[in-house]
Amino acid sequence: MKNIESKLKEKRVFKPSEEFVHQANLNSRTLDKLIKKYKTDSSLFWKELAVNEITWIKKFTSVCTGRSPFFKWFEDGTLNISANCLDRHIETDKKDKIAIKHVSEDNQINSLSYNELFSKVNSFSSGLKNLGLKKQDRVIIYMPTIPESITAMLSCARLGLIHSVVFAGFSSESLKDRINDCSAKVVITVDSFKRGGKFIQAKETVDRALAMGCPSIQHCIVYKNSSEEINFDESRDIWWDKIIDTNDKIITPEEMMAEDLLFILYTSGSTGKPKGIIHSSAGYLLNCLLTNKWVFDLKDDDIFWCTADIGWITGHSYVVYGPLALGSTILIYDGAPTYPDGDRFWKIIDENQVTVFYTAPTAIRTLMKLGDELPKRHKLDSLRLLGTVGEPINPEAWIWYHKTIGKENCPIVDTWWQTETGANMIAPLPGIYPIIPGTCTKPLPGIEIGVVDSEGNEVKDTKQGGNLVIKKPWPSMLRGIWGDEERYIKTYWEKYDNRFYITGDTARKDKDGNVWIMGRSDDVVNVSGHRLGTMEIESALVSHKYVAESAVVSFPHDIKGEAIHSFVVLRDNFKSYAGKQFADELREWVKIKIGSIAKPDRISFSTNLPKTRSGKIMRRLLRNVARGEEISGDTSTLENENILNQLKDIH
Ligand code: WT7
Repeated sequence: MKNIESKLKEKRVFKPSEEFVHQANLNSRTLDKLIKKYKTDSSLFWKELAVNEITWIKKFTSVCTGRSPFFKWFEDGTLNISANCLDRHIETDKKDKIAIKHVSEDNQINSLSYNELFSKVNSFSSGLKNLGLKKQDRVIIYMPTIPESITAMLSCARLGLIHSVVFAGFSSESLKDRINDCSAKVVITVDSFKRGGKFIQAKETVDRALAMGCPSIQHCIVYKNSSEEINFDESRDIWWDKIIDTNDKIITPEEMMAEDLLFILYTSGSTGKPKGIIHSSAGYLLNCLLTNKWVFDLKDDDIFWCTADIGWITGHSYVVYGPLALGSTILIYDGAPTYPDGDRFWKIIDENQVTVFYTAPTAIRTLMKLGDELPKRHKLDSLRLLGTVGEPINPEAWIWYHKTIGKENCPIVDTWWQTETGANMIAPLPGIYPIIPGTCTKPLPGIEIGVVDSEGNEVKDTKQGGNLVIKKPWPSMLRGIWGDEERYIKTYWEKYDNRFYITGDTARKDKDGNVWIMGRSDDVVNVSGHRLGTMEIESALVSHKYVAESAVVSFPHDIKGEAIHSFVVLRDNFKSYAGKQFADELREWVKIKIGSIAKPDRISFSTNLPKTRSGKIMRRLLRNVARGEEISGDTSTLENENILNQLKDIH
């Protein structure tokens, strides 16, 4: 991010307005009480919150139990998440309140009240149940962000099935790997969906995935989302409309244990294989509820638009579970941000009177580059709070968001968290904290973070960074990696003897205790707020039969934050292919293997990679090349110095 940061150093402190402070869900007084309670008795702190926020079937007696790194929260309590998101609201006057307002790319608006969503979920749950699925069976959801995908998630929750939403931009191969990793029995998809005016053939991708071999799959449920023709395999495929029960039958929510799994969500790590992050029921829900109240300050009359796709954790926690459990109104839009024009987001905000808006720095930078004229076509006066997530926001984009979108009238919450943490961990409390652009401020009440050196000692120097760790368990923490306990321990706990949860990020804490995220300490890159493992891309590249070896690093990018540079060595017989045409072919190859989000921005071909005498690829040096920097540090161990020049030939 260096080049972006240097464009503008913003040191101002932005205080929330009197008006905002006055109405905020959390004020200094309530915060002090919370902090005091946590300090005196952390168990009581979580207990009271869990009792007040969640509707339990059977109350719990224990709060946090287990031994690091395996924690259990509210273990003997029982509940149902869909009942927390639906049933408890339809018993009140929220019944007719809008739960979901769906805006399609063609600007068709479909609003569903809590009661209507409740019926939809019950009739789909009935269909799913008739397929003979059992508690904790796995269901893959490969759909865009539409009311039906949310219905599918809530129906799984109602029946106690574990869902795994796979972002509908992933390739058939990525989809197949995820299906097989968790041995899913059912995949739910759409015929196709529209993005940027074009139809994306989701069912075709599913067909290809299943054709590669997914022995656990028994059925593919297809929601008819468009009028495009699709292939239909009668022995396996079922239309959504054929299985739903239209008799207004109510399906009793399954009584689930607090620790039963709610979902698996795959994310990238430092090996070639994505990890299936697993989340529990009650603990996950609790932090979702709290952060929607504390950080997004949600009130009964808010219209909350979080632009994340349900395929990511943000879509789970701030589109579906958090806001719906609170009984809020969410807006969802499944089209492209710039379709048909660069002011689409601003138009949607005005037309639907969105009050709270949450998006990624990449989107902000993209829309900022299009010029001020576009947002200026709209009033944007319904907005009262703005949020960002996914990557550090550079001050230039922050100021633009604040002035041009927020009209200097909306606090901005820069929320730091991860797929693994389930909910916001470090974020401003908008009615309390003064905000400095670039910092996600302080950990939320109940969250204890540390910035530590390689021994695990707090880094005292405020300029120097360290590893960002979480020092105490919290309810919405991941419960592990699906089917891979060893990797869970190795990745997140081992380095500090199970004492802290290791985030994989580096950060520094300033003298006021504000946290500044610096980057990743592992081989994970963050492209447009999407997390990708460099190893994953490397494995995709070397699976091409012309490719012998590859190394992937990132470089700073004005819009994407980080972008991908792949260094590729071709096999002897194919050396002559090095060049632009084959570079484009390789990009397509990565798209087929992983998905468009992983396509390398730059590819360089060389006859070898810079290696140490022991044969290790010198990634530091490759990063220098990719970033256009002077080669730093010692190159005396470099085996083959003459290839450095070749690396600079970029396609
Ligand atoms: C990684 C987690 C959590 C939802 C979206 C991404 C980076 C996340 C911030 C922020 C700086 C951030 C971190 C983190 N990240 N939020 N506010 N400032 N960096 O979820 O795919 O699990 O990625 O995104 O590097 O570890 P994810």
